[in-house]
Amino acid sequence: MDSFNHRIQTALGGSMRDFRVPGGADLSRRGDQFFDWQNSRRSNGLWPFSRSTEAGPGAVCHAADDRGQPIQGVNFASQDYLSMSAHPAIRELAIETIRVYGVHSAGSSALVGNTNLSVELEHRIAEFLGMEEAILYPTGWAAGYGVIKGLVRSSDHVVMDMLSHVCLQEGANAATRNIYQFRHLDVEHCRQKLATIRARDTENGILVVTEGLFSMDSDTPDIAAMQELCHEYGATLVVDVAHDLGCLGEDGRGHIGIQNMIGKVDLVMGSFSKTFASNGGFVACRTRALKEYLRFFSPSATFSNALSPAQAAIVLQAFEIIESDEGADLRRRLMTNILSLRAKLDDAGLSYYGDPSAIVAVKMGSESLARLVSRRLPGLGLLSNLVEFPAVAKGAARFRMQVMAGHSEANIAAAVAAMREALDEARLDLDDLNAPVEAITAAA
Ligand SMILES: Cc1ncc(COP(=O)(O)O)c(C=O)c1O
Repeated sequence: MDSFNHRIQTALGGSMRDFRVPGGADLSRRGDQFFDWQNSRRSNGLWPFSRSTEAGPGAVCHAADDRGQPIQGVNFASQDYLSMSAHPAIRELAIETIRVYGVHSAGSSALVGNTNLSVELEHRIAEFLGMEEAILYPTGWAAGYGVIKGLVRSSDHVVMDMLSHVCLQEGANAATRNIYQFRHLDVEHCRQKLATIRARDTENGILVVTEGLFSMDSDTPDIAAMQELCHEYGATLVVDVAHDLGCLGEDGRGHIGIQNMIGKVDLVMGSFSKTFASNGGFVACRTRALKEYLRFFSPSATFSNALSPAQAAIVLQAFEIIESDEGADLRRRLMTNILSLRAKLDDAGLSYYGDPSAIVAVKMGSESLARLVSRRLPGLGLLSNLVEFPAVAKGAARFRMQVMAGHSEANIAAAVAAMREALDEARLDLDDLNAPVEAITAAA
């Protein structure tokens, strides 16, 4: 094998998992091996991460990779499902709020980091979800971590869908060693776990964890069945609605609304960062007692500075739009775009995971093929995020295309054409590199 071939084979192999436990006494050298591998990918144009945009997340954008190389094209890599991050009313309100309040919360919500805006936002969220109370967190991640760490103690149990987001998994890891995973969306498997736990422990709590819409697979559990199961076994359900609240369902209440479960789920946790044009997260619950407990026992709320006043104002304004005719129109445009993208991918012979949502994850298969596709996409004018192991299973690499209401039909057509061409070229690249045959056939 010549040296170019050798270098590119290194860059096409391996994964982040290889560097999780690098060992060695000197922590300051922990990154060295990872950095070598990352550089082998970077120098071959195979590191499509840590990009920056130059004017925010538009449907078409100018960006740069982490070497500073410019990329220009249609953007299916941002999380701004209703395209509200550039909404004129939201921009103006953010500027006005900064004029009045300054730029910083300057405190945790347990101290004096709240404003009248954040207090109003908590009420608005609770009302929107038919719950009694809601508590804000600085990010969605902090909310997912915090709801578990805040409630669960070492003798309690966490039963979670095996594809739950990392913030939920980390919260569970920090809270207890009693963690049980059930097969993705499998209510019966969840029941088995609950029955086993309750057969030997009726004294301690069980938190069951799932999501309204899974962020890599675009699929949804039977929330009503999960809640019923929790009632049956004396467990508490939390549903992470980061990717569906605001943007899915006729009224924007996501799958909890679609499944007629508004006000009926024990705990609803969410993020503002996908649809509500801001960082931030929340947990909605049934009682003031639980809200107060979370505020003072979720470390990611208690010991972290609150949302800034401008962020609270932005999310309030986003709710205003989401509940208006304009919001309904944005959701219709988003769904039209989602269905159009899926149809065009079908026509192009490209397959994808899951049900219609703003997440359209295009199947690639092997990591090496997907990385070669990622190398081709910028030149073809498409920004789309590569997702590979360990974020998804090995051999199930994909491009997670995230649709926005502001995409045009032309943007969608251009994206699909670029994806098709990149995949065709990448297959030829793989052939040239004499890569294993199974890497090619694993592709969609
Ligand atoms: C399902 C899910 N939950 C929580 C989060 C965390 O939200 P945020 O990015 O707002 O911190 C994310 C975002 O990546 C997510 O996909």
